[in-house]
Amino acid sequence: MVTVRAPATSANLGCGFDVFGLALERPADIVRVERAEETTIEVTGVGEQYIPTEPPKNTAGVVAEELGTPAHIRINKGVRPSSGLGSSAASAAAAAVALNELYDCGLTRRELVRVAAEGEAAVSGEAHADNVAPSILGGFTMVTDDAITQVEASIPVVACLPEIVVSTRDARRVVPQSVDIDELVDTVGNAATLTAGMFRDNPELVGTGLEDGSVTGSRASLIDGFDAVRTAALDAGATGVAVSGAGPSVLAVCHDDGQSAVASAMLDAFSDADVEARAYPTAVG
Ligand code: HSE
Repeated sequence: MVTVRAPATSANLGCGFDVFGLALERPADIVRVERAEETTIEVTGVGEQYIPTEPPKNTAGVVAEELGTPAHIRINKGVRPSSGLGSSAASAAAAAVALNELYDCGLTRRELVRVAAEGEAAVSGEAHADNVAPSILGGFTMVTDDAITQVEASIPVVACLPEIVVSTRDARRVVPQSVDIDELVDTVGNAATLTAGMFRDNPELVGTGLEDGSVTGSRASLIDGFDAVRTAALDAGATGVAVSGAGPSVLAVCHDDGQSAVASAMLDAFSDADVEARAYPTAVG
């Protein structure tokens, strides 16, 4: 039997649409696997009622099929489904790492990123490795078709999850299909600034680089209270704010020891907009 904990993740980080991702110290999914004749899946925890247990419809089940490693898979969800915090990716990532060890497959962590992304693709229709990469590798990751790059980083953040459901399909539909050259220049500059900030563990640079007009701007309208929450977080000391993944979670980058004030301000702003929410003061881990 093998048990693996895979963390929640936040993709995009504003300027890094479908490329950047980071691992959060919490929340997390815990997956336990045991060898079996055929794959069966049991789900407990947050949002368990929304998660299919038929292996071909479950990201962990698809990973078991991809690896040729039948198992009884027990998933304890700590990451709410449809949260923008990489819920299905966490289950796929944990299953890939656990099954690789259980069956001694010998795949590297980077190879497991591609396997876990296939698990996500089979269930959600599109393979975005920007969540599975940080869940498996930790830290800050950059994923392209040709390369997976990982940087250890230590940055305080708050992930604030409102009780709103935003489908990834809707969130992708509102993203503009083209940008003008000025926007492109800004985005490249922000991506470079953010990356430098991750290398230096510098929350000012990371927060500054988080700025992005096109993706965050277009998705903000799907999250009730987003503008007020963003303003409240910045007023409370956050260095930058973005939609986490496809939303509805909102990610704020903080200074050391700044998470409590930022988390309270974000919760108050959601409450003023009549939206229930919970906050995870955490860090890139
Ligand atoms: N990069 C993806 C998006 C993450 O923002 O749509 C969700 O799969």
